[in-house]
Amino acid sequence: MTLQGRELILGVGGGISAYKSADLLRRLQDLGFGVTVIPTRSSLNFVGTSTWEALSGRSVNPSLWNNVHEVPHIKAARSANIIVVAPATADLLAKIANGICDDLLTNTISASKSPIVLVPAMHPEMWLNHATVANVERLRSRGFLVIEPDEGRMTGDDFGVGRYPEVSRIVSEISKFAELNSDLLGKKILVTAGGTREAIDPVRFIGNISSGKQGYALAKAARNRGAEVVLIAANTNLPPIDGIRTINVVSALDMQRELAVEFEKCDAIFMTAAVADAKPKERNTEKIKKINLDKIELEENPDLLVEIAKRAKAEQVLVAFAAETGEVDLGAATEKLRRKGAALLYLNNVSGGAIFGSDRTSGYILDANGLQIHCPDQDKDTLADLLLDQARIKLG
Ligand code: CTP
Repeated sequence: MTLQGRELILGVGGGISAYKSADLLRRLQDLGFGVTVIPTRSSLNFVGTSTWEALSGRSVNPSLWNNVHEVPHIKAARSANIIVVAPATADLLAKIANGICDDLLTNTISASKSPIVLVPAMHPEMWLNHATVANVERLRSRGFLVIEPDEGRMTGDDFGVGRYPEVSRIVSEISKFAELNSDLLGKKILVTAGGTREAIDPVRFIGNISSGKQGYALAKAARNRGAEVVLIAANTNLPPIDGIRTINVVSALDMQRELAVEFEKCDAIFMTAAVADAKPKERNTEKIKKINLDKIELEENPDLLVEIAKRAKAEQVLVAFAAETGEVDLGAATEKLRRKGAALLYLNNVSGGAIFGSDRTSGYILDANGLQIHCPDQDKDTLADLLLDQARIKLG
């Protein structure tokens, strides 16, 4: 695939390996990217602006304070399809992980909605430092691609993990990321995640143990593939994902309200959320005395997916999720999918506390025409891409 016409920002951090990014820049241009370099001030101690201007064929502005009338960080952030920071120093990782914006590069990253690739390079002690490890984990959980450094000789006489990776590996990981990034470009994807809570009284609710992890993984994967993503999250405890508009809701009726607004505009919807099937008929304003707890009357919640399916246009793709605890019954699940009017259904067996709250999953992807894809134990990010592949086929 060609990336011709796509724009990339190459951020350069202040590490001795900054000179290797000159070669990286060339290889990225070979891929068809137009590359704009944003060096940090300290990186200019290693490689100067003239090198970057000559290689990129573009002017290089390392400062937030040049051309202020053009609001340079917003202009840069909007222009880039992807941002690559190489080398990413421990200091830069810490700043980005914590949202610190004190120069043009960090401001641009903070303002960007595009996928961001970080290429750490530093001494092994710094790479393994607890603060760096925590920052990397945080960045990955927010959807940044953090490429593992190589093992080898350092600037001094030491040896270990922390070397700037081979440029060929960086290019291969970026192009994989960028290729994935493009197949949902221009698509709008709506994801619901978490579990709804139905208030009984001011302190109690009917709920479930859905963590929202699969929904967040889907939202992140869809964003990485170029989609515009809206996430409706019910009672999750997960960090927000950069570049994704998240709407927080509590109950099934809250979710119903938000779906009504967002649904019309989307090409595909992933109903990952565990919507409570029932709610108390009345929400008591005072805490109910325990003697009266057996008097709580329940009524059914609307089936949000069925409601949407009734209004959906033919080209909108609906994906349902089903969590069962008994024996896996693919026939019954296919029947449920048809009944709900979904194009696809992911069925998983959550017996014995499996899957809910975990980073891993296993199950089956089904469609109304008899498609059955067995998905053995895998992480939720991998499953997210598999589901997006299937939804992509249905989107045409
Ligand atoms: N769902 C929904 N609204 C509800 C209940 C479920 O939109 N009130 C959606 C979920 O988001 C999920 C799928 O329907 O995508 C899950 O259905 P499930 O709860 O397995 O189906 P039920 O119709 O409740 O069937 P069962 O009686 O087997 O639980």
